[in-house]
Amino acid sequence: MPSFTPIETPRLILRPWRDADREPFAALNADPIVMRHFPQTIGRDASDAFIDRMIALAERNGYSFAAIESRADGAFLGMAGIGDVNFDAPFGPAVEIGWRLPRHAWGRGIASEAARAWLRYGFTTAGLESIVSFTATTNERSEAVMRRIGMVRAEPPTFDHPLLPDGHPLRRHLLYVITRHRWAATLRHPQGGDVIRESSGPSIRRD
Ligand SMILES: CC(C)(COP(=O)(O)OP(=O)(O)OC[C@H]1O[C@@H](n2cnc3c(N)ncnc32)[C@H](O)[C@@H]1OP(=O)(O)O)[C@@H](O)C(=O)NCCC(=O)NCCS
Repeated sequence: MPSFTPIETPRLILRPWRDADREPFAALNADPIVMRHFPQTIGRDASDAFIDRMIALAERNGYSFAAIESRADGAFLGMAGIGDVNFDAPFGPAVEIGWRLPRHAWGRGIASEAARAWLRYGFTTAGLESIVSFTATTNERSEAVMRRIGMVRAEPPTFDHPLLPDGHPLRRHLLYVITRHRWAATLRHPQGGDVIRESSGPSIRRD
């Protein structure tokens, strides 16, 4: 399957990676504040290898974590996207949604705008039934994005990340989910995709 066609939102273009993204992406991966809720910062080689993996995944699946570009000035604003969970997760197999922005792009609603567009892509073009998101329990900004785009706590609502050792301070993760059905309901909500109330989270297993 070819890589995806760029997705336009009011302020953003979500598009396949370009070589020009490598430097600013490496800079954000080297920022200890951006990477505070990850085990470590990521160096240039690993950052480039991540982009290479995402390019290959986009060509295989038609989606991946991808670049965010500002429509106003073409600036690189980080990454967002969807991708198959690539570890042996207790809730798997599943497709996750995620985001990572440079600090100057925080606090403008950019992650949520990009994420809503990727939910739409996932539930329409990619035909997914549900999408999960997870982060270390300390990552309140990322959890706020999950809530803002209408995701709800999964059942069970937390898990221990299998790639982090016992006792690691980031091992415990929050797990959120949104089904295609719930996503469609958020579109009818007056806040246009923001949180709607639901008493309990749906199952996250895909058949
Ligand atoms: C997680 C992360 C992407 C969240 O970024 P963010 O800017 O807080 O999230 P949003 O883009 O949704 O922006 C929301 C904020 O913008 C404000 N905002 C300003 N203009 C806005 C607009 N036009 N529309 C919506 N929100 C707007 C909101 O009020 C909110 O502010 P608040 O945080 O003070 O409540 C960012 O902190 C990050 O990159 N962290 C490091 C990487 C990371 O941890 N990734 C997740 C790992 S799982």
